[in-house]
Amino acid sequence: MNEHWGPLAGLIGEWEGTGGLDSAFSHSRGEVLQTPYLEKVEMKPFGPVDNGSQSLYGLDYHTAMWRDDEDSPFHTEVGYWLWDAAAGEVLRCFVVPRGITVLAGALTTAEATSFTMSATLGDPKYGICENAYLGQRASSLSYEVTITVNPNDTWSYSECTMLAMAEFGEPFAHTDSNTLHRIA
Ligand code: HEM
Repeated sequence: MNEHWGPLAGLIGEWEGTGGLDSAFSHSRGEVLQTPYLEKVEMKPFGPVDNGSQSLYGLDYHTAMWRDDEDSPFHTEVGYWLWDAAAGEVLRCFVVPRGITVLAGALTTAEATSFTMSATLGDPKYGICENAYLGQRASSLSYEVTITVNPNDTWSYSECTMLAMAEFGEPFAHTDSNTLHRIA
């Protein structure tokens, strides 16, 4: 009955990808670094969740990324992906444990194998909230992610968070991408 999950059906499962690439400003190095990473993602289906006449099916997800042979992940996220079939709306709500919450969304179709979700700081619908320190030093102005479900039981993402960093005069593009293959 995976059709309930629309464009999210191809993401259900446990996934791993060794080809991650992060571009971020490193405070310890004082420069922008390109960091390869290993990622492990779990997407557990649930639903329906009903809000009045609205019916949502979702994925309960957590992901973690490691660089080199470090024991602890250098980035994690927890959250939910949601599909509203009647509205044709896909949502990704998640927390980055730097004190950032994101609710990104888009309109798409149940059959879509590629879709792009976005969020903007201060937007009441698809928004970003952040702690006061980050608001002053490294503010997340916008977030955009493109998901592509591939025919060979893998899926890919490419995302860009535009940051207003105290270190730079112009907004800085903090980018991440990976391709995940099924392990369960
Ligand atoms: C695969 C996903 C991601 C990875 C691997 C990642 C990794 C990193 C790394 C390595 C840094 C640099 C920390 C340092 O050395 O100082 C960083 C900074 C940062 N990231 Fe991400 N990040 C990811 C996604 C995100 C997302 C989705 C957001 C927000 C929507 C975000 C917001 C930030 C912010 C605000 C900083 C700056 C912190 C500061 O300068 O004090 N990141 N990230």
